[in-house]
Amino acid sequence: MFELLNAQPQDKIMALMVAYREDPRETKVDLGVGVYKDPTGNTPVMRAVKSAEKQLWEAETTKSYTALGGDPAFVKALSSLVLGDAVSADTLSGAAQPGGTGAIHQALELVKMANPDATIWLSAPTWPNHPSIIKHLKMNMAEYRYFDNDSRAVDFSGMMADLDGVKAGDVVLLHGCCHNPTGANLTIEQWKEVADLIGKKNAVPLIDIAYQGFGDGLEADAQGTRIIASTLPETLIAASCSKNFGVYRERTGLLMAVSQDTGKQKVTQGNLTHLNRQNFSFPPDHGARVVQMILDDPKLRSEWETELEEVRTGMLGLRKQLADALRQRTNSDNFDFIAEHRGMFSRLGATPEQVEHMREKHGIYMVGDSRMNIAGLNKDSVDTLADAIVDARV
Ligand code: LMR
Repeated sequence: MFELLNAQPQDKIMALMVAYREDPRETKVDLGVGVYKDPTGNTPVMRAVKSAEKQLWEAETTKSYTALGGDPAFVKALSSLVLGDAVSADTLSGAAQPGGTGAIHQALELVKMANPDATIWLSAPTWPNHPSIIKHLKMNMAEYRYFDNDSRAVDFSGMMADLDGVKAGDVVLLHGCCHNPTGANLTIEQWKEVADLIGKKNAVPLIDIAYQGFGDGLEADAQGTRIIASTLPETLIAASCSKNFGVYRERTGLLMAVSQDTGKQKVTQGNLTHLNRQNFSFPPDHGARVVQMILDDPKLRSEWETELEEVRTGMLGLRKQLADALRQRTNSDNFDFIAEHRGMFSRLGATPEQVEHMREKHGIYMVGDSRMNIAGLNKDSVDTLADAIVDARV
């Protein structure tokens, strides 16, 4: 039977991780996979996570199953972090998932169960795993313009023009904040216009929010999601704790379904837990429990928020340093967009050849579409990168 299997395309981000590890150069710089790194290149366990894990280890008396939808306290705590008081409890269904990817996958399966003919609209570009999962599920997809390569900002008129083609029942996938891979984000006014258009089209928004707290702050980064969820009749939200709690390998995520029609909640919730049962039964609990403990304990929460803020402002500082270094070297404001972008990533706008040149000659590892993980920099490698960008004539 196995001879019937075809070789699968390599995931570009994962392949880059391997190539970086195998490069013996000491001066190499990893701007690939979306993992936060401190100035020494480590991905630390966050202080509040360590404390919560210690408490959990001492207090936990069983590893027996939780509930199919995960621990309800986790669902409550994380949904309130994402949604604030934008929606009331009786409009919300939620089920814990193995990471943000699990939540996206499950959201798409839910769409497929309800409306197999729906087209999923993706921003061009988007996180490569979005189209990959949609293809795997054999669903329809279409793209809407999002990024303007010249200004390296959102092409909002292109986006709205393309979304005008959305049909009733289609799904529009939006990045809640810190757009991956570009770093270019919608303004609050633009979120309102998008909400309006999706509403007029009778389409369903699916929001992927994986970097809350990495852009303009925990509250600001959730504004777009809250606008959508509080104004449209139905919203799907896939949230990840991988980055903002640094619990990558614990696979901690949540799928939320908001319906203003409260009569639908029981059936929607039942479908979310049904899907969990079919795919993996119970979602992983360790990361979810740690996140819930942090969110519900004022001391742990404030410790976490403080560290998250250090991470966020550290990345903003690196953005500014890089933009300044390029301003100096090029005597132009061509790279000021790096300081305007938000989150972990910026799309530089280099060609694949220029990206390759920077990798071969300077040991700079960025994704082939020239997505850079800003958190992979430190104050020394900013100069190495700025030199490489100039040398590659980006
Ligand atoms: C990324 O975009 O690099 C991260 O979300 C990690 C991943 O799974 O691709």
